[in-house]
Amino acid sequence: MWNNAISRRRYMHMLGVGTAAAALPLGVAAQTSTDEDRARRMKWWHEAKFGMFIHWGLYSVLGRHEWVMENEGIPVSEYQELAKRFTPKPNAARDWAKLARRAGMKYMVMTTKHHEGFCLFDTKYTSYCAPKQACGRDLVKEYAEAARAEGLRVGFYHSLMDWHHPDGARCADDEAARKRFVEYIHGQVREICAYKPDVLWYDVAWPLDAEGWESLKMNRMVRGLLPDVIINNRAKVPEDFDTPEQRIEASKGRAWESCMTMNGSWGYHKNDDDWKTPKTVVRNLITCARGGGNYLLNIGPKPDGSIPEESMRILTAVGKWMDKNGSTIYGSDPCRVGRSNYLNFTRKGNTLYVHAHFWPGETLVVAGLTNKVLSAKLLAGGKKVEFTQDRFRVRFTGLPAAPPDDPVTTLAVECDSEPAQNTDMVRREKKREAV
Ligand code: GLC
Repeated sequence: MWNNAISRRRYMHMLGVGTAAAALPLGVAAQTSTDEDRARRMKWWHEAKFGMFIHWGLYSVLGRHEWVMENEGIPVSEYQELAKRFTPKPNAARDWAKLARRAGMKYMVMTTKHHEGFCLFDTKYTSYCAPKQACGRDLVKEYAEAARAEGLRVGFYHSLMDWHHPDGARCADDEAARKRFVEYIHGQVREICAYKPDVLWYDVAWPLDAEGWESLKMNRMVRGLLPDVIINNRAKVPEDFDTPEQRIEASKGRAWESCMTMNGSWGYHKNDDDWKTPKTVVRNLITCARGGGNYLLNIGPKPDGSIPEESMRILTAVGKWMDKNGSTIYGSDPCRVGRSNYLNFTRKGNTLYVHAHFWPGETLVVAGLTNKVLSAKLLAGGKKVEFTQDRFRVRFTGLPAAPPDDPVTTLAVECDSEPAQNTDMVRREKKREAV
């Protein structure tokens, strides 16, 4: 894919490509991976579907959102004092990893540095990092070990934007500053590669574009060090996956992962009580899986590393549902059935999973299925479900009056081919009576 912000000449220049190679199709030059290799690297990720995002840093001490430094205009000199108060309990990440596994999540992505500039790993580029401040420990190392101990894949979020580094803003119009800052960020990215992340999750490229960041060069370096790594699109080059934020939107022909907060904040926000319900979380996960995407759901640990009680409660409930229904999510295929007022859908091969979030009672109906239904059962408990089907609808009958599962009840419906739905046909062709 081609990025309009970059001229072709500059692009070739930044790749270190000479004039002979400049004749290559642009699409080739703009990639740091082939499609085949991407499919190989991303197999586990596509199957995983559900991950935990973790935002943790000095902002957690204040507990007023991770943008507190900018949104309250806190001077750097004042803000950096927080490093003296950020002294989390050892190995807090073990609790996160346990919770993630119990919730049915298969990978984690933690902030190694957020916009505030404070690094949670050991870096030679600044002393503004956890091991060299009051904390005295490498929190990224602890996190990576904790995730792996629970069998989870490890992702690193790294903010390109930096509110602390002296070149973080002036790099926009001072070439010497840009060079220094790019060296700083590339250097840190190289450092975090030493912990061997499975996913590299850049964020906010302000104030530079891909050319300014030398993003392709940076990503080639990363791939040279970690041939299996999966890279997101936020260093302004498309790379492996798109990152819709706080919304679910399937990308056409591209991998995507929708990231979301559980209340309104990524970082710990002690008085934000705008929590999603477990039902909303499960519904979102289903919607992501239906569209062939992943769901990356955030926790914002407290400064000591403990998990907010509400996040625990929500994820525990989600985990209970995943224990019984995870097979309808993991490794599921994109699903072309989507229309209902009280149902959502996922699919594996010819099996359609019908997920009822508002239980309709004894009869549950899907309109416009273009396939023949062969059999149906309640997923939890495996009880057979009777049904009748005509051209316009399938009626699943004899169901219990109250939903047998919580917060969403799932039916497994065997079809004679890949399930598809055509409600347009229903509207056009259902017989109209006289006026
Ligand atoms: C945004 C925010 C940031 C958060 C991120 C997660 O870009 O700036 O605070 O880390 O989204 O996607």
